[in-house]
Amino acid sequence: MTDYKTLGLVNTRELFKKAVGGGYAIPAYNFNNMEQLQAIINGCAESKSPVILQVSSGARKYANQTMLRYMAQGAVAMARQDLKSDIPIVLHLDHGDTYELCVSCIESGFSSVMIDGSSHTYDDNVALTKKVVEYAHKYDVTVEGELGVLSGIEDDVKAEKSNYTKPGEVEDFVKKTGVDSLAISIGTSHGAYKFKLAPGELPPPLRFDILEDIEKRIPGFPIVLHGSSSVPAEFVEMCNKYGGKLDNAVGVPEDQLRKAAKSAVCKINIDTDGRLVMTAKIRQVFVEKPSEFDPRKYLGPARDALKDLIAHKNREVLGSADKA
Ligand code: G3H
Ligand code: 13P
Ligand code: ZN
Repeated sequence: MTDYKTLGLVNTRELFKKAVGGGYAIPAYNFNNMEQLQAIINGCAESKSPVILQVSSGARKYANQTMLRYMAQGAVAMARQDLKSDIPIVLHLDHGDTYELCVSCIESGFSSVMIDGSSHTYDDNVALTKKVVEYAHKYDVTVEGELGVLSGIEDDVKAEKSNYTKPGEVEDFVKKTGVDSLAISIGTSHGAYKFKLAPGELPPPLRFDILEDIEKRIPGFPIVLHGSSSVPAEFVEMCNKYGGKLDNAVGVPEDQLRKAAKSAVCKINIDTDGRLVMTAKIRQVFVEKPSEFDPRKYLGPARDALKDLIAHKNREVLGSADKA
């Protein structure tokens, strides 16, 4: 059993309390490799933002669970020793789907886990989430639950259509499970194709009416927004210009996320934008410098662009800059 505190990590409890009170959201960025992790830490250290490093079960399969956990430990050491930064860092399991997976992550040093029981019936979701909370809290690890289903792909759980969170369920769910935060569905979805729009049409606004209703029922309780990439047109165009084929990719407008961050939404999940920016930059190098074959020469620019995007999001969208 590795105690996350010995790795220099923190859980989400204090971070969320300050974020809800301060009208901003903590960024939760997914990583699968060294360049993504370096960009996240550098971007958050530069903008002085607390950060949640997210690992999905797909990331564990891709990069190896032991490797990822030591990478996170290395990232903390890099922040403290090389960047002289004391930003709070959380290591979080994204979309955990079983009790056993959550236990395995907690044992290896994660400070926070998500148990995503949203594909189960309400009662089964309650039972599973409660079981994870009881185990996690013994080790002061915080737990995120989910109510409502986002459309798109939630790791191995495919949801064709979105079922908004039912405000009438949240109070009972939070009380029965003891979760520390709750992911809700108010119109976001995973991936790069969040809305089907006619030419010139703007994305529909998020369902702030549902969010407000939820906030009234569980005042001050930390709310999480998944599927919060903005899919910047600039990077979609760059991808396509250099041979990509991302037709009609569209995300959540930044002003919608800013508005959410000012409410009880205190964790905003972003993965797709990081993938998009890195791919756009790599494609650019491949086309403009076809003789280049040193991975550092294309992964380096991709990493720099991701770092800049992260600092931008923290400063202009989530409001987490200078809150570390
Ligand atoms: O919500 C899902 C995250 O974007 C992780 O995606 O399962 O492809 O690692 P992944
Ligand atoms: P995006 O696909 O919008 O980046 O969402 C990521 C996410 O919710 C990870 O849990
Ligand atoms: Zn998600």
